[in-house]
Amino acid sequence: MRRSSDPRPEIADESAWWRDAVFYQVYVRSFADSDSDGVGDLDGVRSRLGYLELLGVDALWLTPFYPSPMADHGYDVADPRDVDPLFGDLAAFDRLVAQAHEHDIRVTVDLVPNHTSDRHEWFRAALRSAPGSHERERYFFRDGRGHAGEQPPNNWTSVFGGPAWTRVPDGQWYLHLFAPEQPDLNWEHPDVPADLARTLRFWLDRGVDGFRVDVAHGMAKPRGLPDMDPRAAVPGVLHDNAVDPRFDNDAVHEVHRMIRKVVDEYPGRMAIGEVWVKEDERFARYVRPDELHLGFNFRLVQAPFDADAVRAAVEHSLAAVQPHGTPPTWTLSNHDVTRHVTRYGGGSLGVRRARAMALVQLALPGVVYLYNGEELGLPNVELPDWALQDPTWLRSGRTERGRDGCRVPLPWEGDAPPFGFTAGAGTWLPQPGDWAGLTVESQLEDPGSVLSFYRQALELRRSHGAISGDEVEWYGAPAGCFAFRRKGGGLICALNTSGGPVPLPPGEVLLSSGPMDDNRLPPDTAVWLV
Ligand code: NOJ
Ligand code: MG
Repeated sequence: MRRSSDPRPEIADESAWWRDAVFYQVYVRSFADSDSDGVGDLDGVRSRLGYLELLGVDALWLTPFYPSPMADHGYDVADPRDVDPLFGDLAAFDRLVAQAHEHDIRVTVDLVPNHTSDRHEWFRAALRSAPGSHERERYFFRDGRGHAGEQPPNNWTSVFGGPAWTRVPDGQWYLHLFAPEQPDLNWEHPDVPADLARTLRFWLDRGVDGFRVDVAHGMAKPRGLPDMDPRAAVPGVLHDNAVDPRFDNDAVHEVHRMIRKVVDEYPGRMAIGEVWVKEDERFARYVRPDELHLGFNFRLVQAPFDADAVRAAVEHSLAAVQPHGTPPTWTLSNHDVTRHVTRYGGGSLGVRRARAMALVQLALPGVVYLYNGEELGLPNVELPDWALQDPTWLRSGRTERGRDGCRVPLPWEGDAPPFGFTAGAGTWLPQPGDWAGLTVESQLEDPGSVLSFYRQALELRRSHGAISGDEVEWYGAPAGCFAFRRKGGGLICALNTSGGPVPLPPGEVLLSSGPMDDNRLPPDTAVWLV
């Protein structure tokens, strides 16, 4: 039911709109800059809403824009209920939401409940207080091991490298699963859930359509903080609670039930969790009817460009959520992983394969998340050492290059950097000089561009009722290929990852990811048929 105070009268109340939506992840720092400081901001996003409507996406996910010292580019939140001056202010946020809704685009925002910034008022108070104080109880402060407490309290490592513990001047240690500037919150302390509920209502009352929950498999830590199996500390993997007590503890589901309760007070709003969990059964627990509406599924990010591997990833993902009535989600790239054009081999081959995988992703039932720039076919950028800013680079002793290469500011127009991203002189990460052919402006005019291809695919997906039918039916296909149809829908999607052309399944070609070869499907190509 629509409440009379609802600030979103312009959006029709289709309460399960998110079940087959195409979300577009805006990495706010890198999307568009309105104030010439070289860093993307909220007014920059607003200035490009026309583009997003033209592209044909249903909703945005905005990465954190809250006040932050930016030790992890905003995932270190100092105040979850305000806007960092770097990105604008609350009025700019309200303008963005109102105008996005006028464009029929919904807006979701990031929540970071696992940790705060070390500049959050709670952590500053904890540092000023004595061991054992109420203020320290909101985090994990512990005495160290060893006779003088000089060893960390357990062997946990930080996801960004090095120990997950940092020592404070009075000798205690505090826990941070990420950077030292991101102390982990203690979810057993009543202030912590109470404050998150306040944050949820704050943004819901401002009209947001949903949330993306950061590290949704984090939050709860096992009593006694037992050591981990050191072999579990491999970066970039799906976590397995059987060997890694840092993540996916049962008590985390209480947090999600709380989030769901609050979100459900507001009709038509949703939450998706970032769930890096290995076992399907354990993943499924996050998307029960009283927990998150959706869970990010990273299996396509991890699958190589190989029909068998992609099919296995799809089948796994469907099996994990569909029995629970939850739509699956599909994602190829985000701000934490190497862009898929590069993962698939880079250059024109990488782009060809990325286009093929876009057709697969957009033909599957459920929800799609696109990462800004993938509709332009952007590759990962090899940045020079001096430009790197990711804490992963700094904390790994400069061995892991980190995630900056997928975060380079978007090219909008013109022949040279900053390609219309900013009216200022520089961009926060340098753009390659040879991106003129990848700009939005140049691609909009070119019917053969990646952007034109995405627009066509998104348009067809919409006009075919999001391609209808929840069940996926597989056909027999030559080695290195697959073909599936959505039961109840007429469309067939075929992918060829073998080295040569293969016969096409019967039907009329609606859209192909690349040039066709008579009645054959060329390698590194996918097609939609009716
Ligand atoms: C996941 C976010 O996507 C990533 O960018 C961030 O560094 C970590 N969570 C910590 O918040
Ligand atoms: Mg700016």
